[in-house]
Amino acid sequence: MTIKPTFPDAKPVAPAFLDDVRAGLSRPQKTLSPKYFYDTAGSALFEDITRLPEYYPTRTEIGILDVRGPEIAALLPAGAALVEFGSGSTLKLRRLLRHLDKLAAYVPVEISGEFVQAQAEALSGDFPHLRVEPVVADFTRDIDLPESLAGLPRAGFFPGSTIGNFEPEEAEALLRRFGRILGAGAHMIVGVDLVKDTATLESAYDDAEGVTAAFNLNLLTRINRELAGRFDLDAFAHRAVFNPQASRIEMHLVARNAQDVAVGSDTFAFAAGETIHTESSYKYTRETFRALAERAGWTWIKVWTDPQNLFSVHALRLD
Ligand code: AVJ
Repeated sequence: MTIKPTFPDAKPVAPAFLDDVRAGLSRPQKTLSPKYFYDTAGSALFEDITRLPEYYPTRTEIGILDVRGPEIAALLPAGAALVEFGSGSTLKLRRLLRHLDKLAAYVPVEISGEFVQAQAEALSGDFPHLRVEPVVADFTRDIDLPESLAGLPRAGFFPGSTIGNFEPEEAEALLRRFGRILGAGAHMIVGVDLVKDTATLESAYDDAEGVTAAFNLNLLTRINRELAGRFDLDAFAHRAVFNPQASRIEMHLVARNAQDVAVGSDTFAFAAGETIHTESSYKYTRETFRALAERAGWTWIKVWTDPQNLFSVHALRLD
């Protein structure tokens, strides 16, 4: 069956990408936003990352959702619309769906249009009675949910520790925004990676096979293709380090030598060893995440973890 996504953003994605790349590469510490990792190739590489032996978050979160699925389902109102923010793959949703037999609609909100369309159609095929209403949008901006959801109780689903990609103040603002999008009375299920030893964290972001390196470098491939960039991929190396003061993994692309790189009509100079900071992945304790959610206006209900305390899933409510 064919599913028609809604596109609530007035602005198309490409000009925002060019503006962001220009601004990011003009800063003293060059930066690129990790939200641009997820073109078709990047989304596929991320799927590969989730299957790496070093990358514990995905399988650990799935384990928590499997074991705690009945408790999570019992917490959500019957007949709810489940709004997933940034639904890269429907893997986790499918695990939760087994327990959510009274769901009225599933609303994936995703920036990558083709990907969400394909996933939504596959999901509809497997769950023919589930209403699937994809929204192609950047969830870091205000979005209107489809009018067809009016009157349904809402639950937000934000798994995968995607929240960790945001600076703590941004993460707080984002949770507040989710509250505005979902409305009073809504629930939220949020997956959050936990602080742990540096070796475990760093190998999760610098795997032996080099899949994470390819994922990081794909950002440059995407700039070359979509923005007429001239990045030489062999001239940049992948680096991942844990910054314990900030409680975050940082991913960088390190210039192997001094070089000038053209992107469209601009040129950016790199010194040897200079980096582009491409991603921060913040790690929380149960307590620091609870405090963050409460600052964002949510009532904290509960947290579930795995036996090794690698990952956490929090339940929140908007009173
Ligand atoms: C999708 C943001 C949760 O931070 O673990 C994985 C992205 N980057 N490996 C993460 C990612 C490198 C991932 N999140």
